[in-house]
Amino acid sequence: MADQYAGTDLGGQPPTPLALRWAEPPEGPVLVLLDQTRLPAEEVELVCTDVPALVRAIQTLAVRGAPLLGITGAYGVALAAARRYDVEEAAAQLAGARPTAVNLGYGVRRALAAHRAVTEKGATPEEAAQAALAEARRLHREDAEASTAMAARGLALLDELLPGGSHRILTHCNTGALVSGGEGTAFAVALAAHRAGRLRRLWVDETRPLLQGARLTAYEAARNGLAYTLLTDNAAGSLFAAGEVDAVLVGADRIAADGSVANKVGTYPLAVLAKYHHVPFVVVAPTTTIDTGTPDGASIEIEQRPGNEVTQLIALTPAGATATGPGGVTLVAPLGTQAYNPAFDITPPELVTAIVTETGVVSPVTAGGIEALCARSRQV
Ligand code: MRU
Repeated sequence: MADQYAGTDLGGQPPTPLALRWAEPPEGPVLVLLDQTRLPAEEVELVCTDVPALVRAIQTLAVRGAPLLGITGAYGVALAAARRYDVEEAAAQLAGARPTAVNLGYGVRRALAAHRAVTEKGATPEEAAQAALAEARRLHREDAEASTAMAARGLALLDELLPGGSHRILTHCNTGALVSGGEGTAFAVALAAHRAGRLRRLWVDETRPLLQGARLTAYEAARNGLAYTLLTDNAAGSLFAAGEVDAVLVGADRIAADGSVANKVGTYPLAVLAKYHHVPFVVVAPTTTIDTGTPDGASIEIEQRPGNEVTQLIALTPAGATATGPGGVTLVAPLGTQAYNPAFDITPPELVTAIVTETGVVSPVTAGGIEALCARSRQV
């Protein structure tokens, strides 16, 4: 029987479906997510009617990626308000659903502040809910605009760093339309290079253990017609050694005041490899991912995830069918094995060639450069 994963050709299909949308069916407002745990096998929507369901969706990574977590948090507050939950309590639950991506708390705080501001002026619950929703929509729009600006700045930087114009880019995790109101962060730059005819190849790290690269970036690359090749994370070293990587482009979950970058685990070793091989290592992230309240990398809380994400492979097949056996779970380590499973790691600023944001590029990456960028961004 044909393996449904092998050779699945997504090229030529419409662009990635919307990662998230607000809807108002007669039964009441809902937040509709594209369930990212089911990709690439199935494009299934997950309808969240309440805050606990949304918190679960965040924790299981049905919705994920720093900018999208911010947007989700803001809509989550709007959902809580529209459904007449205790909005303050719901906001705390949403903001605490995952610890590392600073955008989640940022999005929650923005919608909550809008809700509070009109409530204090005597608005009705309905008016306050509308204010929270308007703020979530504003953040969603701003993130889409930031994507476009980062793509343009990122491509200009690549052209400057790599004269000659045919780029072979290595990326890690997933940073496209699935994590953004627009076309994403690092992936949006690769997409811009592709559209400009200057992307020779996108090297896609599979990104163990949850395979955001294999399942999601390869899916987005295929749908957008990019020339891409998937590799296991531990094949990256030999790829650098063979001289096949011109630049590394990654996103970020939080950037500290000193320029330290928290991103999907496996990012730091890539930065070390890039330094050794004299390859530019570029971080692409909106200014909403910069957290000047966090002084350095050591102060960033790194999410630790369950060990069974490492010791088991969960078969992602339609309608509960299993590729591997009853229950859809394959053990890849003896029962009872303990696993070390941090979701993110920290790349120190000295390994980062540049940070590209929607308002400017920081290079070299220093505390002063980050501060100046933030000061400029506040004036914009
Ligand atoms: O655990 P995830 O899938 O939410 O992790 C996502 C990443 O690490 C992305 O690289 C990061 O959020 C940047 S996306 C613009």
